[in-house]
Amino acid sequence: MTAPDLVLPPSDFTVFGGTGDLALRKLLPGLYEQERRRQLPAGTRIIGVSRTPLDDAGYRDLVTRALFEHVAEDHLEVGALHRLTARLHHLTLDIGSADDWDRLHGLLKDRPADEEATRIHYLAVGSDLFGTICDRLDDLGLVTPRCRVVLEKPIGADLASSREVNDAVGRVFEERQIFRIDHYLGKESVQNLLVTRFANVFLEPIWNSRWVDHVQITVAETLGVEERGDYYDRAGALRDMVQNHLLQLLCLVAMEPPSYVGGDAHDAVRDEKLKVLRALAPLTGAEVDRATVRGQYTTYGEELGHPSTTETFVALRAEVQNWRWSGVPFYLRTGKRLARQESTIEVVFKEPPHAMFPDSEGVTTPNRLTIRMQPDEGMQLHLTAKHPGPGGIRLHPASLDLTWADAFDERSPEPYERLLRDVMRGVPTLFMRRDEVEAAWGWVEPILERWREAAVEPVRYHPGTEGPAAAERLLARDGRFWQEGTR
Ligand code: BG6
Repeated sequence: MTAPDLVLPPSDFTVFGGTGDLALRKLLPGLYEQERRRQLPAGTRIIGVSRTPLDDAGYRDLVTRALFEHVAEDHLEVGALHRLTARLHHLTLDIGSADDWDRLHGLLKDRPADEEATRIHYLAVGSDLFGTICDRLDDLGLVTPRCRVVLEKPIGADLASSREVNDAVGRVFEERQIFRIDHYLGKESVQNLLVTRFANVFLEPIWNSRWVDHVQITVAETLGVEERGDYYDRAGALRDMVQNHLLQLLCLVAMEPPSYVGGDAHDAVRDEKLKVLRALAPLTGAEVDRATVRGQYTTYGEELGHPSTTETFVALRAEVQNWRWSGVPFYLRTGKRLARQESTIEVVFKEPPHAMFPDSEGVTTPNRLTIRMQPDEGMQLHLTAKHPGPGGIRLHPASLDLTWADAFDERSPEPYERLLRDVMRGVPTLFMRRDEVEAAWGWVEPILERWREAAVEPVRYHPGTEGPAAAERLLARDGRFWQEGTR
C-alpha cells in the first residue's frame, strides 16, 4: 500500500555536478523512481549543470545509459523513461564564465508568468564551490523565498571549513531553505528504528545502561574507492563516513524520545540528535590512540596510482555521557574492501542477573537486537531458547526475524528517492541542521588532529578480510567482540 500523495507545484531541479558519479548513480535514478510512481509534479524540469560540453540530447543519452545501469531491471519502463528524459536539459557551465551563468538564468526564467516553479539547486560538487555557486545564484536573482538548496556531504573538511561553508551558504539562503543531505537518514530501516523504539513500549524500559551492555555500529563495504580516488584520498573514512553517517546512526540509537515526529515539528528529532552529539565524551590526545584504529587496505595505493596515508578503515570506541548511557560503549567501525557488504546496528544486552539453569546443557547468550540496513533491511532479536525434546533443558540460541520486504511485501524506496521527495515537499526532518553538522565536526576534529600530530600511520589489512586485527583488540580489551555476519 502506498501512502496518499500530495499534489506539488512544479520544480526546476538544477543539479550542479549533473554528469558526476552521484548524479548518475543516485540522483537521477531517484528521480526516475518518482517519475515511475507518477510523483514528479507536472511541469517539473531537471537541469544538469556541468563543465562537460553536452547538449540536451547528449545528456538524455548519458542519463538513459546510467538508468539502464543503476535502476532495477524490473523497474525499467519505457513510458517512465520517456517521460523522465523529456524533462532533462543540460547546461555547460564554467563557474567563472558570466556568459554561462547568463544562459542558466535565461533557462530558469524561461517559464510562463503563471507557472512559477519551486527552484531546487542540488549542489553535488565539492563543498569549496558551494559559496561561489550560491553567490552567483543570488546575483542573478535566482534565489527567492520558495527556493531550496541541497548540500551534499562532506560539508567542509574540518570544523573551521565547515563553518565557512555554512556561513557562505547562510548569507544567501535561510536555514529553512537549506537541506544538508545524509542519505543514511533516508534508509527505510533507519527511519524504522525511530518507529520501533517510540511506537512500541517493550524496548524503551530496557534501552539504557541498566540493561544494554554495549552498542556496535558497522558499515562494511566490499567495494574500494572506485572512480572517486581523488575525493576519497583527501577525505578518508573518518570524514567520509564517521563524521556523518555513523554518528547520525549513533544519535538515532541514543537519543531521547522527541515530543512529536511529523507535521511541522521538523526540529523535534534534530534537537534530540544534537543533544546526543553534544554529550559525546571528547576523544583527545593520547586517548585517541587507545580508542581509535586507523586502517588502510593493502592495494589502496596501487588502485590510486600513488602511495597514500589516508585511512580506508576506522574503528573507534565512543561514550555518550548522560544519565541513560553512562558507561555503555558505542563501538563504531567502517571500511572499504572488507569481507562483506553489510550495515548493521547491534544492541547487545547484559547477561541475565541470575543463572537459572546451571544444570542445563548449552549456555545463555546475551540478548541482542540487530537492525540491518543492508542486505535485506530488517531486524532480528536474538534470544536463548529451549531446544525441543524430552529430558533435561538444553539451551540454544534462536532468533525472531523480521525482514521488511517479507513483512510488507513492498520494495523499500532508495534513500535518495525518499529524500528528494522530501526536498520537493519542503520537509527537512531527515536532513542535518547546521548545528548538528558542526557538533559532529567538533567531536571528530581532535581525532584528526591527533592522527596528524602524532603521524599515526594506518595499519594495513588485506582486501576481503574483516579489517585490521587492531579493531578486534579494541573490543577484546573490554572483554567483547564484534558480531560478524548476521545473515
Ligand atoms: C557515501 C560515501 O556517503 O556512502 C561512500 O561517500 C560510501 O564512500 C557510501 O560508499 C555508502 O553508502 P551505502 O548506502 O551504499 O551504504
